[in-house]
Amino acid sequence: LHAGTRPDHVRPVEEDGSRLWLPVIRPVEGAEVEITYKGKVSPTIAIAIAELKNAWKGDPVLLEKKKTGRGDGFAITSSEHQVRILSSTETGLLYGAYSLLRMQAAGQLTVPLSVTEQPAYDLRILNHWDNPDGTVERGYAGRSLWNWEELPGTLSPRYEAYARANASVGINGTVLNNVNASPQVLTTGSLEKVKALADVFRPYGIKVYLSVNFASPIRLGKLDTADPLDKEVIGWWKQKVKEIYAMIPDFGGFLVKANSEGQPGPCDFGRTHAEGANMLADALKPYGGIVMWRAFVYSPTDSDRAKQAYLEFMPLDGQFRENVIVQIKNGPIDFQPREPYSPLFTAMKQTPMMVEFQITQEYLGFSNHLAYLAPLWEEFFGEVRPDRLKAAAGVANIGTDVNWCGHHFAQANWYAFGRLAWNPLLTSDRIADEWLQQTFTSQSAFVCPVKAMMLQSREAVVDYMMPLGLHHQFAWGHHYGPEPWCSVPGARPDWLPSYYHRADKEGIGFDRSSKGSNAVSQYPDSLRLIYNDKTTCPEVYLLWFHHVPWQYRMKSGRTLWGELCHAYDRGVRQVRGFQEIWDSVEPFVDARRFREVQSKLKIQMRDAVWWKDACLLYFQTFSGMPIPAGIERPV
Ligand code: GCU
Repeated sequence: LHAGTRPDHVRPVEEDGSRLWLPVIRPVEGAEVEITYKGKVSPTIAIAIAELKNAWKGDPVLLEKKKTGRGDGFAITSSEHQVRILSSTETGLLYGAYSLLRMQAAGQLTVPLSVTEQPAYDLRILNHWDNPDGTVERGYAGRSLWNWEELPGTLSPRYEAYARANASVGINGTVLNNVNASPQVLTTGSLEKVKALADVFRPYGIKVYLSVNFASPIRLGKLDTADPLDKEVIGWWKQKVKEIYAMIPDFGGFLVKANSEGQPGPCDFGRTHAEGANMLADALKPYGGIVMWRAFVYSPTDSDRAKQAYLEFMPLDGQFRENVIVQIKNGPIDFQPREPYSPLFTAMKQTPMMVEFQITQEYLGFSNHLAYLAPLWEEFFGEVRPDRLKAAAGVANIGTDVNWCGHHFAQANWYAFGRLAWNPLLTSDRIADEWLQQTFTSQSAFVCPVKAMMLQSREAVVDYMMPLGLHHQFAWGHHYGPEPWCSVPGARPDWLPSYYHRADKEGIGFDRSSKGSNAVSQYPDSLRLIYNDKTTCPEVYLLWFHHVPWQYRMKSGRTLWGELCHAYDRGVRQVRGFQEIWDSVEPFVDARRFREVQSKLKIQMRDAVWWKDACLLYFQTFSGMPIPAGIERPV
């Protein structure tokens, strides 16, 4: 693994991670490469030109607005001594410019250039869970980027830097505030601040959206109901929407968390999710706005939380307006390190759907653990065909930290989300490659081992936290460390780990087969049959779908208990391997980022051991079996 130092190798200069994967914007130097655009130079075109002048090192570039395809797709061609970027839209030209620079930085330029790109989804959107008081729900990278107290008068330079980073990977929408939405976001004073941000983002092709509280007509409008069929309520929303569009003509629309985890919603008034969503959609329709209506619902009384979203939303299939998209988390529970896909994705046939991924690592070690998430999302797109969806959303991991995301490698997840929302068929490998080369160096002695580490990292987290389909073994009150034994008198059962692991003397796992909760029935027949049978169920989902005896023979020949011990141990060893890899590439990384990643890996190592010891010692009280030889003993 040791990369060694080439004799001519000079260690890179110190970086703080604030430039992300982008080239530093340098002061204009003498001879610049010629960038031409025939026509009026709009703010968007000006950015494209400036970016190319700043970093492009090849032949002159001609930007040309020309019908090349749908939406913001683009083409790049080259002939002798000229590169041409073509798109029907200005934003498409900007994307073309970023794409050219990315290819240059990642060593992907092949002459003659002949690239055509079309985004898979028209809507590629970040969801910020940011609160008006500057805190960020499940945020691990400092405070909210939006400084509401300073806005609209003061515009932090970070707003533009944020827009630039998003545009560079094709992200074209941002929901500014938490899905647990404060009604205050819709006050006129707050909308003025939103407008200021929208004005900064617009040239980068980014629209703003807001999460709204369904009870806003009561809380803000002083009405005595928020019933979506009530005339006054309908009028209140129409008026509010009109006010928004007068300030922000290209406002994107609303994101709504309704009747979930205590949030108000149409069901409070005896109405359905569809009735609630449609009322808002009708108000937005004249302006081209949309509603993203979340399907993240579950009630404490339900026998299996994993079934709930399907049970509530399937009967509504086909009842939503055209400008409603139902936003569904990738898995049926909640952003666990591994989940099977949410069955709604294959069941709903007449409803536009979008996937919600979580970029912030609520359940994957916060910003302390190195967990590259592209493999998780790639796995999802392997199970759910990308063309079943209309859009992709990612819960942002961005905050005021100097390096934006808390962990230098967490930047890769922001990057990967954007790249996959543009093209869900890109591989994790390729995305890691691109990101590493732009963010660190293109020297293969660095890229190869570090990419290997990234590609293993999500599986390592699964192994040391919750292997073989285990899920939600987190401590009460936070989602960081393990507490499978947790009991809290009077707590909702589905907020306790025991609800999910169901460990007893016989075995462990949640029986969701036809003999248990029958959650398997929500999948298409072909999968239902596979998941329903212990012997055909993929072992990565075994304890998700089955309660399995401790002595059960796994494919490896080990008992289930032995396999569990083995997986936890493997996770720990992998993290130790990551530490070794990172130490070996020291000559290729600047001192600051090297040190910061190194200390994060130390924390990850400590936590991996903590998870393994806690889970194995606890589950051993049920299995009664010894920890096999060769496995590190819990201390
Ligand atoms: C998770 C998370 C909450 C969040 C919720 C949601 O449960 O812990 O903080 O509000 O998801 O997605 O609505």
